[in-house]
Amino acid sequence: MEKLVIEGNHQLRGEVQISGAKNAVLPIMAAALLVAGETKINRVPDLRDTRTMAKLLEVIGVQIQFADGKMMIDATSIDKPIAPYDLVNKMRASFYVLGPLVARFGKAIVSLPGGCAWGPRPVDYHLKGLEKLGAKIELEGGDIIAKSKKLIGNKIRFDFPSVGATGNIIMAATLAKGETKIENAAKEPEIVQLCEFLVSMGAKIDGIGTTDIIVEGVNELLPCEVSVIPDRIEAGTFLIAGAALGKITLKNTIPEHLSVVIEKLTEVGAEVVIDKNDITVKRAKKINAVDVTTAVFPGFATDLQAQWIALMSIATGSSIVTDTIYNDRFSHVPELNRLGANITVEGNSAIVRGVKGLVGAKVRSTDIRASASLILAGLMAKGVTEVNHIHHIDRGYEKIENKFAQLGAKIKRISVDD
Ligand code: UD1
Repeated sequence: MEKLVIEGNHQLRGEVQISGAKNAVLPIMAAALLVAGETKINRVPDLRDTRTMAKLLEVIGVQIQFADGKMMIDATSIDKPIAPYDLVNKMRASFYVLGPLVARFGKAIVSLPGGCAWGPRPVDYHLKGLEKLGAKIELEGGDIIAKSKKLIGNKIRFDFPSVGATGNIIMAATLAKGETKIENAAKEPEIVQLCEFLVSMGAKIDGIGTTDIIVEGVNELLPCEVSVIPDRIEAGTFLIAGAALGKITLKNTIPEHLSVVIEKLTEVGAEVVIDKNDITVKRAKKINAVDVTTAVFPGFATDLQAQWIALMSIATGSSIVTDTIYNDRFSHVPELNRLGANITVEGNSAIVRGVKGLVGAKVRSTDIRASASLILAGLMAKGVTEVNHIHHIDRGYEKIENKFAQLGAKIKRISVDD
């Protein structure tokens, strides 16, 4: 096991390179299952989650090479279309292999993901969508068994624009017979990139980036090459750090993916300057308390909610942070309170009463974004903060302590005995 030890209250200054987006590369890797031949992916972040997805694809029988941010996936033939519990349990995005496997090979066995630190997180939309496309779905021993000789296009309407279900059904529909219309689809940038990648493979998709997506199935797709978009959540995390702690220039971003965060940080009092793909953020002299309600894109991302609460914990005044995507996603709150924050949770809202300053303590991270929130709080706190259970952060942030250390943070990774 490892922990991060942070001596807080130091200014941050300099440039940071934003990595490729975790939530974009995972469905792209799964989409490589749709095609015989070599898929080449550039700017792949070296994360625990990308390695878990690579391992899963290897278990299925796919050939993978991964070095220096470049991944080559050859899914010409596969041995067994099975996603086992131990991998799905580590990473729910493993469920992305379901649609492509059924579409291309006619069968998939994918362990049903359980709940997670932020609530039940069902997969019913994925399954109902595949059933609409003609797949026969059964649950056996905790595994979803999906079968179909040939998927047939249909009209599917999601009750909520689920990112994962939209990606899964689009991938499945690319090789289905006829037209699939998805209503109330997700339009997150990662789904847009998945669609554009599929189109470059020969898929026929209309309405990309809107809530109504139409996929006209084709007989086969062709392998191609793609570069992963920058991670807007990693970028948002560094923007929030800069707003509290100094002057940071983020390199390799897509500012339009960050519009709401930038707007909110300006309300907070930070200075934000955009120069093409770079964004510079300068700390707020006084951190204003600003309410946030998470929403689907282009709204404020739920994946930045925990980091926002960390910033608001030292604001002047009180703010309300509401999560409409995940009602229970507040496991970071008791840990932030250990650092001296004054936060209470009521329903799906956190009431954050700003305090003068945080004081270092031992804390424990419970998921990827909660870890990021605790690191930010540790960087803002006086004294030493130990963030334990940091395997979570490694799932979604590439070398986060090195990136912060380059900006002047006193942060190091230490091995600890179990
Ligand atoms: C993705 C992201 C995750 C982000 C989330 C919301 C990846 C790998 N992960 O997760 O980081 O926090 O989008 O932006 O891209 N729901 C159902 N039934 C379903 C599917 C979803 O009820 O079948 C509900 C969920 O419980 C949740 C909401 O829909 O309340 C949104 O979930 P969804 O968009 O599917 O999130 P993920 O794709 O799992």
